[in-house]
Amino acid sequence: MASRSCLYVVLLLLAFQSTVIKANVPVVPPQCRPVAAGTLARIEFLANLVIGVAEFFLRSSNGTGIEDIAPGLVQGPVPIGATNATLDVATRAAVQQFGLALVGNLRAIVDVTLLNAPLPRPQLNFTAGVFANILNLSALTPPFNVYASQTQFFLVAESLTSSLIQNYLAQVIPSIVGIPQLQLLAGIGLNVGGQVGYFRTRLNAIVNTAVPPYTITVATFTNTTATAVNLLGLCGVKNEGLIVPLPLGAENRTTTNVIPGDVNSLSPRRTERETLRIVHGTGNATRPGGIFPSGFNGTLFRLIVLLRLF
Ligand SMILES: *[C@@H]1O[C@H](CO)[C@@H](O)[C@H](O)[C@H]1NC(C)=O
Ligand SMILES: *[C@@H]1O[C@H](CO)[C@@H](O)[C@H](O)[C@H]1NC(C)=O
Ligand SMILES: *[C@@H]1O[C@H](CO)[C@@H](O)[C@H](O)[C@H]1NC(C)=O
Ligand SMILES: *[C@@H]1O[C@H](CO)[C@@H](O)[C@H](O)[C@H]1NC(C)=O
Ligand SMILES: *[C@@H]1O[C@H](CO)[C@@H](O)[C@H](O)[C@H]1NC(C)=O
Ligand SMILES: *[C@@H]1O[C@H](CO)[C@@H](O)[C@H](O)[C@H]1NC(C)=O
Ligand SMILES: *[C@@H]1O[C@H](CO)[C@@H](O)[C@H](O)[C@H]1NC(C)=O
Ligand SMILES: *[C@@H]1O[C@H](CO)[C@@H](O)[C@H](O)[C@H]1NC(C)=O
Repeated sequence: MASRSCLYVVLLLLAFQSTVIKANVPVVPPQCRPVAAGTLARIEFLANLVIGVAEFFLRSSNGTGIEDIAPGLVQGPVPIGATNATLDVATRAAVQQFGLALVGNLRAIVDVTLLNAPLPRPQLNFTAGVFANILNLSALTPPFNVYASQTQFFLVAESLTSSLIQNYLAQVIPSIVGIPQLQLLAGIGLNVGGQVGYFRTRLNAIVNTAVPPYTITVATFTNTTATAVNLLGLCGVKNEGLIVPLPLGAENRTTTNVIPGDVNSLSPRRTERETLRIVHGTGNATRPGGIFPSGFNGTLFRLIVLLRLF
């Protein structure tokens, strides 16, 4: 009797749910499922990414760091390996603007949430070889160097900076509680989405030309870097090249792919673990390395390590 009424409850729930969610919900493999966490833990996780991208943009474009722009906003080990990137005047100014904008975003995190300044800054490694390794470009001669030319800089910025923030926010925003917190994250997500558009537009303008000093075109490079990032993420094709086969193009009708998206051109989504696997460059959320050689700060990263959620 009890099990029968249980069955009715389940059927009722299923019937009710099917009126709310129309789409067929695909089975998500275990390594692609989100970790249960609260709003503050997710924003704390996000702060690590925003700090990382802000430091990279500021240091590579202007030689400054977050502390020079907003004293007391972050505190932690000094990032290593960044040098002055080879950028023309307008591009340098744009990259600096993106870095400054992310500093403002961090201040907004402190203003809106219970996280206090100084936000803990994780160890960051911006050595050229780190990016080349993550993007599977370390076998090139001369070695791929993000700082050596504007196009090499765009290739790294497109795949490993603002897009990681965008994809993480596309994943977590629906689970965020509180209107001020939702406004905060929507505001950050829409801003970084614009940055992604900038980098990919700049690359698309030269999509069929070779990237000096190599003979490989921008289109091929973006395919290689996207493939490398997807293999580290372990959750399917989310990063995409600028020229794609029709099945990856918008509505299966175009090979031009300035803005990547899923089958309905919705922003790709990546969980904490996918993001960590990529920025660690290890394909393992609990094995730090790459851009974050000591991992992230905060409770969500510690939980992932504790639960051994690779
Ligand atoms: C960094 O930016 C400041 C303005 O914010 C500017 O005065 C300075 O010249 C820039 N430095 C470099 C190296 O671009
Ligand atoms: C960075 O390089 C540019 C030229 O690419 C130069 O104008 C600028 O002074 C350099 N900045 C620093 C801090 O070395
Ligand atoms: C944050 O992580 C870095 C290592 O990445 C560590 O040096 C620092 O002490 C941590 N900060 C806090 C507050 O845990
Ligand atoms: C930073 O990356 C470089 C290049 O991969 C590596 O040689 C160096 O040991 C790294 N430093 C830290 C502190 O992780
Ligand atoms: C890495 O790049 C090489 C070409 O340099 C390619 O043969 C290999 O399949 C790529 N590996 C991954 C994991 O993408
Ligand atoms: C890379 O190019 C190959 C060959 O066109 C294609 O099958 C693949 O989907 C592309 N991958 C990405 C991530 O763009
Ligand atoms: C595009 O092709 C994929 C399979 O490659 C399919 O799942 C999707 O429904 C197609 N989209 C449209 C709009 O036809
Ligand atoms: C992930 O890294 C952790 C820590 O280094 C290690 O214990 C674990 O075996 C790794 N898991 C996988 C699947 O590589």
